[in-house]
Amino acid sequence: MDSEIASKGLLGDYRRQRRDRKSDIFIRWKITETCNYTCSYCTAWKTVNKKLPEMPIDRLLQAAEIFTNQFDNISLRITGGEPAIKRNYVELMTFLHSRLDKFVEIELRTNFSFPEKQRAVFSLDWQGKLLYHIGCHVYDKNFRPWDFVETLSQPTSVDYDVKFVSTSANQKYVDAFIDYFIENGINEKYIVVVRDIRDSAEDASKIPPAIQTMASRGELPDDFFKNDFQQESFKREKVAA
Ligand SMILES: C[S@@+](CC[C@H](N)C(=O)[O-])C[C@H]1O[C@@H](n2cnc3c(N)ncnc32)[C@H](O)[C@@H]1O
Ligand code: SF4
Repeated sequence: MDSEIASKGLLGDYRRQRRDRKSDIFIRWKITETCNYTCSYCTAWKTVNKKLPEMPIDRLLQAAEIFTNQFDNISLRITGGEPAIKRNYVELMTFLHSRLDKFVEIELRTNFSFPEKQRAVFSLDWQGKLLYHIGCHVYDKNFRPWDFVETLSQPTSVDYDVKFVSTSANQKYVDAFIDYFIENGINEKYIVVVRDIRDSAEDASKIPPAIQTMASRGELPDDFFKNDFQQESFKREKVAA
């Protein structure tokens, strides 16, 4: 752990939380820039899989220990890259679980790969404080919806959203996978569709194009990441076959 962080702790940013629970601090923690997926629309494209320095796994645990000693009533969002790709992901989640009284909520943003790790986390009693925000990225070769069904059909204390990013190109696939989930017992109320956040960007020239032309991607608008907190889901409408 950097000595400055170890001595001063973390600086936080308070935000009103989506589930209206009162927290003293909101911590958005990007625990990795590495991902096993390559979504062409990824909002984290500037950093994901760019082989940037990664926080060593033992430091992840130290950081968790520091901020859980420093704060109470924490609202934590863990994101990436793909958080579950970390070798000690289960250990980290187990540690956070051991400090559950420090949290009002923990939100995990994941593409739900690594089913054994996910099942280990799902087997703990989170007392409704853990929200899994599960990204269904339908074009990626690693997307395995049957693994999602297997885990989500078991009784669990984890709250979850199954979330699709709808682009103009992928709507019929999104529809097909929503039908697959519903047919396999996932309640429609847990299924969320959001529009590709780039659709609302004012200056189309700033929108990162498809992955093939990554080298020429432009800058994102200044408020790009702010939108992440303001995103509204919408009711899906069936696309004509
Ligand atoms: C960058 S991902 C990191 C976490 C994890 N890898 C995942 O995909 O869920 C963080 C969030 O951004 C969302 N996201 C990525 N690209 C998006 C886009 N173009 N429009 C809207 N949301 C997007 C993902 O669905 C996910 O909820
Ligand atoms: S799974 Fe998440 S982090 Fe990985 S490329 Fe897709 S949107 Fe980006």
